[in-house]
Amino acid sequence: MANSIRSLRSYLMQRLLISLYLLWIVSTVVGYFATINYANQPYDIVLLQRANEVATELKLGSGHEQLDVIPTLPDGSDVGMPDSVVYTVTDSEGRKLAGNGNTLRPLSYRRDRTGPLFSNGEREGQKTRMVSLTFPSKNGILQLHVSETTRQRQALIRGILANIVIPQLLLTLIALAVVWYGLKQGLRPLDRLRRDVVNRHRDDLSLLDGSKAPAEVRPLIDAVNDLLERLKQVMAAQQRFVADAAHQLRTPFAGLKTQSELALRSDEPERKQHALEHILTSTQHGIRLVNQLLALARNEPGGQSNDNFTSLDLNQLAQECTVNWVHMALEKNIDLGFEGASATAEVRGDANSLMEMLNNLIDNAIRYTPEGGHITVRVIATKHGMEMSVEDNGPGIEPQHRERVFERFYRILGTGQSGSGLGLSIVAEVAKRHGAELVLDAGSDGTGTRISIRFPRPVSDHPS
Ligand SMILES: Nc1ncnc2c1ncn2[C@@H]1O[C@H](COP(=O)(O)OP(=O)(O)OP(=O)(O)O)[C@@H](O)[C@H]1O
Ligand SMILES: [Mg+2]
Repeated sequence: MANSIRSLRSYLMQRLLISLYLLWIVSTVVGYFATINYANQPYDIVLLQRANEVATELKLGSGHEQLDVIPTLPDGSDVGMPDSVVYTVTDSEGRKLAGNGNTLRPLSYRRDRTGPLFSNGEREGQKTRMVSLTFPSKNGILQLHVSETTRQRQALIRGILANIVIPQLLLTLIALAVVWYGLKQGLRPLDRLRRDVVNRHRDDLSLLDGSKAPAEVRPLIDAVNDLLERLKQVMAAQQRFVADAAHQLRTPFAGLKTQSELALRSDEPERKQHALEHILTSTQHGIRLVNQLLALARNEPGGQSNDNFTSLDLNQLAQECTVNWVHMALEKNIDLGFEGASATAEVRGDANSLMEMLNNLIDNAIRYTPEGGHITVRVIATKHGMEMSVEDNGPGIEPQHRERVFERFYRILGTGQSGSGLGLSIVAEVAKRHGAELVLDAGSDGTGTRISIRFPRPVSDHPS
């Protein structure tokens, strides 16, 4: 359906009106020709009879023709017979021998023609119908042409047509009215639905009742209900997220308040120092949390467009990131290594987001791997595209937690580490934004954790 259609009812009515109008015209034209045909038949018989009477009066075909006799024929002045009739007798070459008219013989009237021939013509601006007959005579063939005007025929045709066209027009109008009313009734459930939606409270996401809607509209209602259901889930998730974020932010702020009060109350420089150190830690936690929330918002669908995607060398990006964490790893006596792909590892993406992702993965690996552990950041080329992974030999993530650790604020209790549970959800959002597949499994020797991000091959690289 074209975009310009604003009302289904007027669209359908328009279509119907055009179709019925065309139908009416076609049936009128067909009716007109059928009427002419049927109206001509009885008049033609009468005209032939009249021609035979003229022939009898002139004794045509008897061998004793009396061409000087003038037969009496209607001249159109009689109310009962408003048509004027004239006749002409010609020889076989069409030369006039007798008659009160100058009727030209029809072109198709050949010399060897015997039967009566009816033809249409015109006399003094009036339409005529003529019958032509042939008779043998001593001097060759004689032709008699009797022609009459067609006023009576026209009046009959007009009468019959009026009787066909007017009832048809009325029928068309009645059909239109019935369809218009039917449409109005048929579309009433839609109108009810519209009113239902318009009058809703803005928080009301309850499903639309499609039970009384026409079957054609039900798929649309189902789709809208499906959308409402998803919207409900999204809104619930948003509410949960806001509540969780507020809850998480409250902890560092509460710490700040307590420690500040403590520092203000205390006169001992040592206690003041201690409180200030706590204030610094709480502030750092708060800043990290806010930064993570911002990272999440940036990488959420609709958070940032993909216009800043550029072609990147994953080897270089991963190496730079890893180098920044070496110091932290050393502090915990962890062996942090990097294995790059042999060739250039080109992917399309947002460098900042990818670094954010890798930082979160390395941060987790260092945080949860005990002292003396190993971590490897790896970039490899597979047949499907580039793959980047962070693998450690720490405690690993139990299979029952593997799906859930990517949820926002989800943490596994008992690790002894602080955090807010946003790191892996940022990783998941960045992967999704890059169309990459995220895989969490154990390390290569079956212990520890390995999180891999499989990037799709850039479009231009696909084998054609
Ligand atoms: N490499 C890992 N080894 C073991 N457990 C891990 C590892 N990475 C993540 N986890 C578990 O997954 C949970 C979720 O990780 P996530 O990074 O989302 O949050 P977090 O590290 O707790 O907090 P933060 O928001 O500060 O990163 C962690 O609490 C941890 O229990
Ligand atoms: Mg983390």
